[in-house]
Order: sequence, then structure tokens, then C-alpha cells
Amino acid sequence: MWLNRDLVSIGDLSKEEILEVLAKANSLLEYGKSGHPDLPLKGKIIATLFYEPSTRTRLSFESAAKRMGAEVLGFGSLESTSVAKGETLLDTVRIIDGYSDAIVLRHPSEGAARLASEYSEVPVINAGDGAGQHPTQTLLDIFTIWKEVGKVDDTTIGFVGDLKYGRTVHSLSKALSLFNVNLHFISPEQLKLPKHIRKEIEKKVTVKEHKDLEEVIPKLDVLYVTRIQKERFPDPEEYKKVAGTYVLRASTVSRGKRSMVIMHPLPRVDEIPFEIDNLPQARYFRQAAYGVPVRMALLDLILRGE
Ligand code: CP
Repeated sequence: MWLNRDLVSIGDLSKEEILEVLAKANSLLEYGKSGHPDLPLKGKIIATLFYEPSTRTRLSFESAAKRMGAEVLGFGSLESTSVAKGETLLDTVRIIDGYSDAIVLRHPSEGAARLASEYSEVPVINAGDGAGQHPTQTLLDIFTIWKEVGKVDDTTIGFVGDLKYGRTVHSLSKALSLFNVNLHFISPEQLKLPKHIRKEIEKKVTVKEHKDLEEVIPKLDVLYVTRIQKERFPDPEEYKKVAGTYVLRASTVSRGKRSMVIMHPLPRVDEIPFEIDNLPQARYFRQAAYGVPVRMALLDLILRGE
């Protein structure tokens, strides 16, 4: 049952439900550019509450809502709202609950979306909670793998970069463990995947950890590159030790399969130089564009139940 359902963690969805979102997003693909002719969400209001910066998630949710005929409410900046006067997240959520049909929330604290969902009558969609989860990014990431590789099952996927703080890696690796995949995690020692996530996913799929990307790249169908999340480091000195650890070079890409797909949730800093953008393997801009049909599908499922 999708109607009025929260989406806080990717673990809230079964494999069948993930596949349902993918199939629906595929059916809406053309309307991601032109708008849905029937405007199925006309009369609905989506509130976007972003307590952290965002370009893709916020604007693709807004685009998805408008393409489906819904209206959008959102903060300009936190300084222009009563958050600046000290209003708590929970009070804000209880207020916006009365103004909207769904709340899309990004917050720096892990667990914020779960807490908000307990206080909101309208559904809460987690748009990223600290180093926790980013489930809608995961849906568009799996959609990208499906569209660009041609399948999700029987693939080998490598994650490189900040696997400790990268919430997109946490959500995506959990979701992929529902499929028949091999997962490789490439990072410096300080940025390894949290142990509790590794333990959870290795019960279901083959997991290997590496320090050297060159060694593993020939095996990969997908290389999922991540930014080192400077804003999540408690100590700036620790960030300096790992900054720039993995910068993807064309010479490294050439060691991989020609059919390998390079993904990145974006924004990037220096881990993917501009020279990589022109390689046929680079799909991260297409990946970002898939955010619109995937979020159109999700909003329709949650707001209309179909
Ligand atoms: N991928 C992603 O979450 O990007 P934004 O931070 O720009 O929303």
C-alpha cells in the first residue's frame, strides 16, 4: 500500500516495491521533460523543507511535482523562516503538516526524517538525513543502473570514495543487497563502509573491500564515485588527510570494461575531473536527470496510491 506512506529509509521498501517505482518511472520518462498531460497531482501541495544545501534533490522534486500538476511550497533560506527564531524541527513539521499533502525533508541530523514522520499526519519523504540515508537518490541510482547497464541482477558494482559518511552509498548498498550483485568497496581505511552496514549486506551478497581502485576496476559494470563529505568530518585535520585520495583518471577508466557505467550522486569536487565527462562511460548527468521521472513516480504512488 503506497497511499500516504512515509519513505524514511530504503529499508522501508521491498524489492518488489523498488521494481514498481522503476517501472512506473520508466512509463513516465517522456513526461519528465514535457509534463504529464493529465496533471494527475493537480490540487496537491508538496512542501520542501531543506535544512541543508541541495541542488538536485530539491529542484528535481519541485520539477517532478510541477510536471505532475502539483504546487510546491518551500523555504527560501532558513534565515527567512522562524527556524532563525529558534523554532524546532518538530514544531515546523507540525505546522507544515497543515499546509501541505506531503513533506520532503532534508536535515543534517541522522534520524530527523524518522522523527518528523512520527509527528506528521501527511507523508514524510527523507531527502537526506545527515550521514544516514538518502532513499530517493537510491531509487534513481537503481533506475540508472537498470537503464544504462540494462539490468540490475548479475552486475558487479564498485563504490569508491567516502563510504563512511556518504549516505547515498549506505542506502544504495542496502537496496542492492536485495538483488543478485557483487559489491566492491574501495576507500582509505578512515572512510570504510560502517561495519553495521557491511554486516547487514554481506548476509545477502558478496562484499569485498579494497584500497586500490586500479586492481578492481576491470571487474566492474558500474563504478559509483562519491565526494569526500567534508561537512561531516568532526575534525578538519582528519578531512585534510584524506582529501583528494581518489581522483578518477582517464588512464584508470581505460583499465575498466568499455561498457562500464560511471555514476556519481553529485555534487563533485575534484574526484571526477572534467576530462572524464566526455568519455562514453560517464553517465552522472543522465543519472541526475532520471531524478525527475523517479520522483514523479514516487509522488504519484504516495499521493494517489497508484
Ligand atoms: N545528489 C544529491 O543529493 O544532490 P544535492 O545535494 O544537490 O541534492
